[in-house]
Amino acid sequence: MRLLVTGGAGFIGANFVRATVRERPDVRVTVLDSLTYAGSRESLADVEADIRLVEGDITDAGVVGTLVAESDAVVHFAAETHVDNALADPAPFVRSNVVGTFTILEAVRHRSATKPVRLHHVSTDEVYGDLTLDEPARFTESTPYNPSSPYSATKAASDMLVRAWVRSYGVAATLSNCSNNYGPFQHVEKFIPRQITNILTGRRPKLYGTGANVRDWIHVDDHNSAVWRVLTDGAVGRTYLIGADGERDNLSVMRMILRLMGHSPDDFDHVTDRAGHDLRYAIDATPLRDELGWRPGHADFEAGLRATIEWYRDNESWWGPIKDAVETAYEARQQ
Ligand SMILES: NC(=O)c1ccc[n+]([C@@H]2O[C@H](COP(=O)([O-])OP(=O)(O)OC[C@H]3O[C@@H](n4cnc5c(N)ncnc54)[C@H](O)[C@@H]3O)[C@@H](O)[C@H]2O)c1
Repeated sequence: MRLLVTGGAGFIGANFVRATVRERPDVRVTVLDSLTYAGSRESLADVEADIRLVEGDITDAGVVGTLVAESDAVVHFAAETHVDNALADPAPFVRSNVVGTFTILEAVRHRSATKPVRLHHVSTDEVYGDLTLDEPARFTESTPYNPSSPYSATKAASDMLVRAWVRSYGVAATLSNCSNNYGPFQHVEKFIPRQITNILTGRRPKLYGTGANVRDWIHVDDHNSAVWRVLTDGAVGRTYLIGADGERDNLSVMRMILRLMGHSPDDFDHVTDRAGHDLRYAIDATPLRDELGWRPGHADFEAGLRATIEWYRDNESWWGPIKDAVETAYEARQQ
């Protein structure tokens, strides 16, 4: 299989590419990534010789058309992903997430007229908005879309485009909406790596608001094994929710990080809460488990978190050069 991976130099994409090279020698991977601040060649350094990395933008119809024409399948990760950045400046989110997905859909549609190309669109559970803290409900495939932030609104828009291109043009696409990922190679602007690297650099970890907000954590390798399962066995046109029953509030995650790193559980600062901060996300992944037989491999969150802490401890050369700038940006927003 000739596989095009957009956003393959980002957090989830790089882990996806590395796992694919490791586990699927029959797959030839091309990565298309514009190497924004969130993308890094170093994340693919170990597999550089096994893949082709094209530095280019998913809104560039020329490069997208050429690469799609050379591919049997496309897994589309590329996006602007940080909610705080979206609140500060939503324009790049509309461009990359909406126009970028449109550009890929058009390339797949035109190529499919002569040769089938399978597309998998990677999305987020944030498109569903949030749940209250005390209700038992979880998101399912039929939960109405209700995005809160410019990030989730642009992801919701991209999902709608994919669904329409399936229905109107017969594009052979699947979609997945996954909960919050953690693991190696995640940018230090994100919640878990930020706290770990704050401690490693002698800073105090920072918690938005009271920390009551609940996220449904999944290890990045589990997200990626589910993406592969949907790509190979999923029904075209279907949306699959990906989650591993990992609901935890931010305060508990913060305290677990502190404990695992040998600090007192109250050794952190409260900072200004994020505007419109979603309260709770929770995924019901029953169809993925029952229909496609997928199971997470990292059910033990504490073990996964411990390994992630070790990874950041061992890989300061990967995150060290950007850490100061990320914290300066947070300080300017009093976060
Ligand atoms: N991180 C999560 O917890 C999570 C959860 C569910 C879904 N997702 C989705 O998974 C995907 C990947 O997320 P991530 O956390 O790895 O993001 P990331 O920000 O770490 O990586 C995004 C990658 O896309 C690239 N990119 C951005 N705009 C581009 C453009 N216009 N052209 C080409 N490349 C571009 C960046 O350079 C970067 O390498 C996104 O679509 C995101 O919405 C993420």
